[in-house]
Amino acid sequence: MVFSHGIRTLGVLGAGQMGLGIAYVAAVKAKVPVLLYDRSEVQLKKGMAFMDKLLTKDVSKGKLSEVDAKDAKDRVTVIATERGIKGFGEVDMVVEAASENVDIKTSLFRTLAAELRQDVILATNTSSISITKIAAAAIPDGIAPTSAEGKASASRVVGLHFFNPVPVMKLVELIPSLQTSQNTLDKARAFALACEKEVTVSQDVPGFVSNALLMPFINEAIMCLEKGTATRDDIDKTLRLGMNHPMGPLQLADFIGLDTCLAIQQTLFQGTGDSKYRPSVLLERMVDAQWLGKKNGKGFYEYD
Ligand code: CAA
Repeated sequence: MVFSHGIRTLGVLGAGQMGLGIAYVAAVKAKVPVLLYDRSEVQLKKGMAFMDKLLTKDVSKGKLSEVDAKDAKDRVTVIATERGIKGFGEVDMVVEAASENVDIKTSLFRTLAAELRQDVILATNTSSISITKIAAAAIPDGIAPTSAEGKASASRVVGLHFFNPVPVMKLVELIPSLQTSQNTLDKARAFALACEKEVTVSQDVPGFVSNALLMPFINEAIMCLEKGTATRDDIDKTLRLGMNHPMGPLQLADFIGLDTCLAIQQTLFQGTGDSKYRPSVLLERMVDAQWLGKKNGKGFYEYD
């Protein structure tokens, strides 16, 4: 079956909280078959168990019928880890949601470009890394970036930034690189709309719009805690009750992952040289301690 966005099968690279959420909205909302790959079998198992839990919850709340939940589940196929990225086979688009690390992402895009057809859209869910740099990595070795082949290879890469929890948050940020073609942008936008998301467009600057605004806010809250301006609970309560934020900034940092917050802040600081983006020492120390937030049980708060 061909859908209006032209994506007959989607590949999702990474089965962490973001990748799983993207697989979920693709299967449930856009009704697109999904191939899910992660280099960790444990992560894949955890991801699929979470998918089952979400589908069961949606059925029990009357948001999905049992038949629709089963159809959605059947749309998601896990690729055996030993097959690697080759397992994506004939997908029309891949959304990459691996760790927020420039070396990991550029290396993955090099492999994706080498293994997949030239017309496959390659989207990255990066929160802050240059899409232009990731696109340049998708040009095969020995091909000039300014040649027709070099331009075509890079033109299929685009930023498609989802928000956590993906099934709940209504926004997707669409980020063209210097090289992205209009066709790539149109298809990526159509896919996000099919996932029932609203789309905003941001230029390819460090952190795009979302994290250029959110990360200094979170960092300032951590500095308030560091300086003893107020207690953890009072900082979060101030923003929750005073400004109607659903979560305070310290709880939100835990929810995003302190390692991810630090990685984004480092990208912002290095990419702009602006001291307003310098990560707080407390955040660095907490990541040194491997206190990563909700995902591993301890951040500013404790989790079961
Ligand atoms: N997956 C799927 N659904 C989830 C979920 C998850 N992980 N967590 C909560 N939900 C659903 C619940 O099932 C519930 O659905 P119903 O309304 O159908 O019952 C709904 O969300 C509300 O959940 P709860 O009642 O349990 O809790 P809540 O009202 O406190 O909402 C929240 C939870 C939606 C996470 C809310 O606290 C919130 O919006 N927090 C802010 C989240 C945010 O800012 N995210 C962006 C982070 S930045 C980012 O992702 C990008 C980046 O680059 C860093």
